[in-house]
Amino acid sequence: MKHLQQNSGNLDKLSAKEREVYARLDAARLPRHIAIIMDGNGRWANRRHLPRFVGHRSGVQTVRGVVETAARIGLQYLTLYAFSAENWKKRPQTEVDFLMQLLRQYLKQEVPRLNRNNVRLTYIGRIHELPENVQERLKWAEEATAANTGMVLTLALNYGARTEIVDAFRSILDAARNNGGIDHVNIDEDLVSRHLYGTLPDPDLVIRTSGELRVSNFLLWQIAYAEIYVTDKLWPDFEGTDLLHAIGDYQRRERRYGGLNHKSNGIPSSREDARQEREEAPVLAGRK
Ligand code: FPP
Repeated sequence: MKHLQQNSGNLDKLSAKEREVYARLDAARLPRHIAIIMDGNGRWANRRHLPRFVGHRSGVQTVRGVVETAARIGLQYLTLYAFSAENWKKRPQTEVDFLMQLLRQYLKQEVPRLNRNNVRLTYIGRIHELPENVQERLKWAEEATAANTGMVLTLALNYGARTEIVDAFRSILDAARNNGGIDHVNIDEDLVSRHLYGTLPDPDLVIRTSGELRVSNFLLWQIAYAEIYVTDKLWPDFEGTDLLHAIGDYQRRERRYGGLNHKSNGIPSSREDARQEREEAPVLAGRK
């Protein structure tokens, strides 16, 4: 039965508020791949005079809700920046240990829910550098969801985009060595893409919470033409309706991939066009 549900979502399960926002979207023009920089757990906790770990725990609740909403609307790919490669080096060991423990718990608790929502779990990043017991849990969860045919949920763990590109160069050289040497390699964009982690399509929309206007070493190659939506909401406060609002904002933009806009010469012909152009400007357009 499962394969019949592929990406059809489960709209009946949306909350009343989510349904209201979803009704204003064009269901035929959902982004194919949304990538999220989840930021602001620490500030969320600080504002409540709570320790940072409470913020991370609350961030996990948000992950749960957003994954479910995304699966219900039939999104094909969702990628979450869970731990950057830099997080390991720059945070106290106690916080890193806590995040590892949280990830193991999340995986154990979430697999049944991911299966109910037909979600397949994958990972990008230098997974082999993570603690052994985390790697084992990751492998278990990936295998336990491998048969699902709906949304692909990718967790970026110990991930850095520059490291990914370095690893791609190494992988290209290894492949060349095994296939007649470097002279036989035709280096083009497609080749580089194929040697990046995973087999995901490029994101159409990147969402960042907590108002920071940075991409923080996330999917640098893949987001070349992505639309960027930044909200001031801190990650633990982000809800399914916020995801849907971000999609609505995305749908109001015109993607040009370096070409001209739909008006033949691309030059705004009136004040109204100029206003629209400003509103479509990336980054700030999505800020609330
Ligand atoms: C940013 O908050 C968030 C992280 C470093 C990690 C994100 C992790 C989670 C949401 C929980 C674990 C995720 C999974 C999938 C189990 P921050 O600490 O940088 O916040 P701050 O910038 O306000 O200090």
